Amino acid sequence: MSLIDEVKSRSDIVDVVASYVDLDTSSRNPKARCPFHTERTPSFYVFPESETWRCFGACATGGDVLSFVMKQEGIEFKEALHQLADRAGVKYSDSNATVQADIAPKATVIEANEAAARWFAQMMLSSEGVQVREYLASRGIDTDIAARRGMGFAPGDGTLTLAGNLRSSQVTPEAARDARLVVQADDRSWRDFFRNRLMIEIRDRAGKVIGFGARSLDGSEPKYLNTPKTNAFDKSRVLYGIDWAGDSIRQSHRAVVVEGYMDVITAHEHGFTDVVASMGTAVTPDQLKTLSQIVSSGDEAGEVVLCLDSDAAGQDATRTALETLIGTWKKYGGEVSKSKKAVLNVSVAAPVDGKDPDEAIRTDSWAWRRSLENAVPILDYVIKNRVENSGISTGEDRAAIVKILAPLIANVEEDSRYAYWEKLAVSLGVSEERLRWMAHGASAGADVSKSRFRRNVLHEDASSAQDMARALGSVTVGIEEHLLALVLEHPELREFAEAVPTEHFLDTANRELFTQWVRMPTLDEMLNALSSDIAEKAEQLRSVEFPPSDHARRVDEVTQCVRRLRERFMRNLLKLTEIALKEEEGSLEGEEREQLRSRTLDPSDHLKKVFQAGATGRV
Ligand code: UTP
Ligand code: MN
Repeated sequence: MSLIDEVKSRSDIVDVVASYVDLDTSSRNPKARCPFHTERTPSFYVFPESETWRCFGACATGGDVLSFVMKQEGIEFKEALHQLADRAGVKYSDSNATVQADIAPKATVIEANEAAARWFAQMMLSSEGVQVREYLASRGIDTDIAARRGMGFAPGDGTLTLAGNLRSSQVTPEAARDARLVVQADDRSWRDFFRNRLMIEIRDRAGKVIGFGARSLDGSEPKYLNTPKTNAFDKSRVLYGIDWAGDSIRQSHRAVVVEGYMDVITAHEHGFTDVVASMGTAVTPDQLKTLSQIVSSGDEAGEVVLCLDSDAAGQDATRTALETLIGTWKKYGGEVSKSKKAVLNVSVAAPVDGKDPDEAIRTDSWAWRRSLENAVPILDYVIKNRVENSGISTGEDRAAIVKILAPLIANVEEDSRYAYWEKLAVSLGVSEERLRWMAHGASAGADVSKSRFRRNVLHEDASSAQDMARALGSVTVGIEEHLLALVLEHPELREFAEAVPTEHFLDTANRELFTQWVRMPTLDEMLNALSSDIAEKAEQLRSVEFPPSDHARRVDEVTQCVRRLRERFMRNLLKLTEIALKEEEGSLEGEEREQLRSRTLDPSDHLKKVFQAGATGRV
């Protein structure tokens, strides 16, 4: 979680505002006399459900908890963030990139893991371990292989426990807890996290045990229980088997990624030394980044072959994961090598006869070897898969596909980009010209919905909270990021965006990014002014690639974005105003009510103006 998210989720906006302002919390949406201008009747509201505030009076401003503290204290974003972090007890480093928690450091977690691994190995060979030895034997794994591949046994009958064993070693209960090896029960006693399971050590490149995968032996769920996130282990980043495969991958410039622990073990036992596992997913961008650094050392292009599970190959989740991968890796390519050539070729190998690699290798290792050699480039795979599985009949179907694939094609290196446009046009049965036109339309519309309505702080009344969430909800952050990416990449577009009120950005990080972009004349100065996590986001946005376009179109795109932000803002404002009015009206009579209405700005009028501006192209 980013520091911003952590701080926001731990700060109750009502509490924070109440610490500065005399807040009347008797109503659903607490109100006060606005702290930012002088007034007699309260027109400053806090909306707990959306975690926002707004003054409907003279100053007509609003925002989230961070912008409130900034405005109230007259301080910059970073300072407000740190103040709120202190208040909420969130620790941060000076560069504030990460949240520091008060738990055992990585080295201590690893020590605990290593001690546990020794004990699991002992247990496998002891009389306790007969069941696991039999299970392994049934899969063709003898005790030599098991020991060599870091396997062990976690007993489950409660007489012999890891918790008990660690007590007689140097490992403290706290370290074992932070390694997630034990959990504290209600009676404060320590219980083993892994019970009655085949243990598989997960090591880092240097061979240190950072976590475990644990297979059930009796069919109980889950099949594999893995170490939860610790200071040493994050499943989405780890590559299982990298300690065995690292050197081979570096020398051969090829890495083969399979999905399972057993696939890796069998592959290595059969001499496939460049195999690692993504552990159940198609491979995450973080895993690919790690691999890319090993696979394409020097000027040599690297090759990554993804082996999909037979049952996963056609699934939406897998395809989406692959698409995400293509969409993000440009920046990884850039980090690997300064040379302009492609640094990473990723391809997808089809499963042999519907078997997973473990089975396929045991059945016919040559057939598996051939399947690796016949792997197809990932983008070809995704295009084919997407087009074949989407049941295209209308132009809208085609447009939906283009919307997904165009940014991916725009992301591949220039040499092969044109060929992919051609391929996509052919497989969709449209002309290339028509495709380009569709791609342009697609890039202006990409929206990502992100609900910000995590909690309903004050009221139990779920239905009205939901109404509110719906009314304000589906906050589209995609449009904000699209606009930011455009102006960061094309400085000449500045004049078309710099007048946008910062309030129109609902995402806190985006808003701060935009604020500093407006303020700072150059990109470098802007990056310097930003905290490191937001600066990193800026870098990411800057590396977003757009389909081929020209200046006039880009101006049009920016203008569209600006208009949509404004529209969204006005719609939200309208909703909030209605909510506030409804509440006020309950307690007011005739003339007073009229006064209130006239005091509140009329958002529908504003909306009208926005739409008129949109129609004439002005903003
Ligand atoms: P598989 O179900 O294909 O397991 O999941 P497998 O490796 O072939 O195991 P065997 O052959 O049945 O013993 C692939 C990988 O997905 C992760 C594990 O990393 C597993 O190796 N996984 C799977 C989990 O993390 N949890 C699960 O419950 C299942
Ligand atoms: Mn398997």
